Amino acid sequence: MRILKVKSKDFLSVEDFSGREINHIFAFTSALKAEIKKGKKHNYLHRKSLAMIFEKDSTRTRVSFETGMTQLGGHALFISGEEIKLGKRETVHDIAKVLSRYVDGIMIRTFSHANVAEMAAYATVPVINGLSDSFHPCQALADIFTIYEREKGLRGVKLSYVGDGNNVANSLLHCAALTGVDISIACPNGYRPDEGVVEFSRNAAMKTGSRIEITDRIEEAVKGSNYIYTDVWISMGQERESAKRKKIFAKYKISKRLLSACAPGCRVMHCLPAHRGEEIDADVLDSERSIVFDQAENRLHVQKAIMCALMTK
Ligand code: CP
Ligand code: NVA
Repeated sequence: MRILKVKSKDFLSVEDFSGREINHIFAFTSALKAEIKKGKKHNYLHRKSLAMIFEKDSTRTRVSFETGMTQLGGHALFISGEEIKLGKRETVHDIAKVLSRYVDGIMIRTFSHANVAEMAAYATVPVINGLSDSFHPCQALADIFTIYEREKGLRGVKLSYVGDGNNVANSLLHCAALTGVDISIACPNGYRPDEGVVEFSRNAAMKTGSRIEITDRIEEAVKGSNYIYTDVWISMGQERESAKRKKIFAKYKISKRLLSACAPGCRVMHCLPAHRGEEIDADVLDSERSIVFDQAENRLHVQKAIMCALMTK
């Protein structure tokens, strides 16, 4: 299989890839996934190392990146925020320079997106955003890939998102717009996706034909949707706003009743971790409509394709 070389050095936000590049990554992901299931061994990142910095908790991101590196013939090292102390023990600038002398790629999960951007600016190796307060691009690629593999393409698909216009929503909007998926986001006023993200996505949509809607009317947003998505009301770092957010988002939940307002056979998506009874009812999350574990699995396959695209240059 030929690996696509993407233009960008880094993957900080979905915008770093073009729609064409995303489609190539999806095709490469499909091939990698099919081959590994047949027992084929890959060596695309033979003896390469990925440093993974985690300032926030994780299950999927850590395990999928670490396993992904092993499956590609390389190795990943976990570095906790507690030990590296970004900007406290030393500057992000110095960490970027030092790590670039040891490893072939850096994955970072942090709070401020400025940390991710600074790491990328000074690292000479590729930097991958494993989630910041603003974006979760690996998640969005895995999510849209999950739809792509179910539908065998993305034409005519409508995705709705109900809840907080957060990091996951921002990246999902970017990715839907770049790949021509129609997306309707229902969120309370004051919790809409980032303005810059909306503007970029509306421009991208003019080329791809994706229809974008952002509203506070939940039923209207989910009407006719083939996929309905939600994420937690309280993201990592927002714990102090917990009581306020639970009130504001109370209506923004996926329930059986809301599912019946979507297109027949609509599938349910969540990036996980989920809070049953808050943004999604347990009988929906645990139902046969739910494809949340396919999404989780596809983090592994998509990220392997992303690492191949960035780290084999
Ligand atoms: N969806 C996701 O990024 O999961 P983790 O926070 O467990 O990595
Ligand atoms: N929006 C959530 C996503 C977790 C994967 C958060 O940032 O905590």
